[in-house]
Amino acid sequence: MRQLADRIDLIAPSPTLALDAKAKALKAAGQDVISFGIGEPDFNTPDHIREAAIKAIRDGFTRYTPADGILELKEAVCAKFRRDNRLGYQPGQVVISNGGKHTLYNIFLCLFQPGDEVIVPAPAWVSYEPMLHLVGARPVLVKTSPDNGYTLTPAELEAAITPQTRGLVINSPSNPTGMTYGAGRLKELAAVILRHDLWVVSDDIYEKLIYDDCQFANLPMIEPALYDRTVIAHGLSKTYAMTGWRVGFLAGPEKVARSVAKVQSQTTSNPCSISQKAAVAALNGPQETVGEMVKSFSRRRDLVLRLLADIPGVTCPKPQGAFYVFPDISAYFGKKSGEQVLKTSDDLAGYLLDKAGTAIVPGSGFGDDHTLRLSYAVSDEDIVRGLGRVKEALLALK
Ligand SMILES: Cc1ncc(COP(=O)(O)O)c(C=O)c1O
Repeated sequence: MRQLADRIDLIAPSPTLALDAKAKALKAAGQDVISFGIGEPDFNTPDHIREAAIKAIRDGFTRYTPADGILELKEAVCAKFRRDNRLGYQPGQVVISNGGKHTLYNIFLCLFQPGDEVIVPAPAWVSYEPMLHLVGARPVLVKTSPDNGYTLTPAELEAAITPQTRGLVINSPSNPTGMTYGAGRLKELAAVILRHDLWVVSDDIYEKLIYDDCQFANLPMIEPALYDRTVIAHGLSKTYAMTGWRVGFLAGPEKVARSVAKVQSQTTSNPCSISQKAAVAALNGPQETVGEMVKSFSRRRDLVLRLLADIPGVTCPKPQGAFYVFPDISAYFGKKSGEQVLKTSDDLAGYLLDKAGTAIVPGSGFGDDHTLRLSYAVSDEDIVRGLGRVKEALLALK
């Protein structure tokens, strides 16, 4: 008897979640592990959002809602797009799902099918590739260069397009590099996208976590002709420190929204009713806490970059967004820990976990084996202690 469906062998567990689980297990066993692993703000969900959830429970808002989300939240999402992005959407063009991850999976399921190729600029977030495999499409990872700020160039896009290409995923600010696409680069890409009639999936989940004088932009903001062929995937996890609440949303052409709503009605039904009420409070309520979080992340980014610059052989471009840095540590490849020669980012990350008690994700999971990805959603004290240990462990290699 065949035990499991073949598609299960196409994917591996998320390396970031696996590393986080390992770090938590070591901590539970009493080890002093500092985790730079998980992409999760270390702040609490702001009080007014938590209060809205408590009120929802007290009011008995605890039943099924419409499968694609409550109108009040869809309207708050539309208001957000008008306010922040000057993009006009109607509630019928919005679907609320169980987190940004679920939103993206739904979008891929409705847009792409076996035989389709989907271009993903790499290094890329760990889940695009497995999700595309699960829906039967072929992810085409196109390597970008730190010299271009890890952004896809129009020539690289053009060269990757075949008659099977159906779509392009853009994630800005990016996980794992923290780099952002500027208006000029987006405009150049838009011309290629229009010429080849592609779908755009714009993963804007880090929109609000952007630093210095960098301005957020996505493709439909820059090129209105792309409005009808772009689906924006977004969520509350990162902006409002709401990772556990599981609220994501999409906005795009009505036919896509209706298709996703149909899928959701037959699979998960509605996202948690209580979380939806909390999400309304997050989007419509005071935004000061977002500004405070951004200020902290910006300061920590500078701290991390300063400490990394102090480690011989490590280079790291300065990211403008998200809460990740993506240093190149390949200068340490070929060095030895005892008898073990460290050859890959996995070897280096394994060594740093064992010898320095620091959990850091190897770049291999994001499609770049010369690098490590560190999340700086960690206290200043842990950043200083953790990177001190990393430096010491790297310098101890022979
Ligand atoms: C690039 C990117 N997109 C989407 C998500 C999904 O986040 P969530 O499912 O918590 O909304 C993440 C989370 O790590 C991410 O890094």
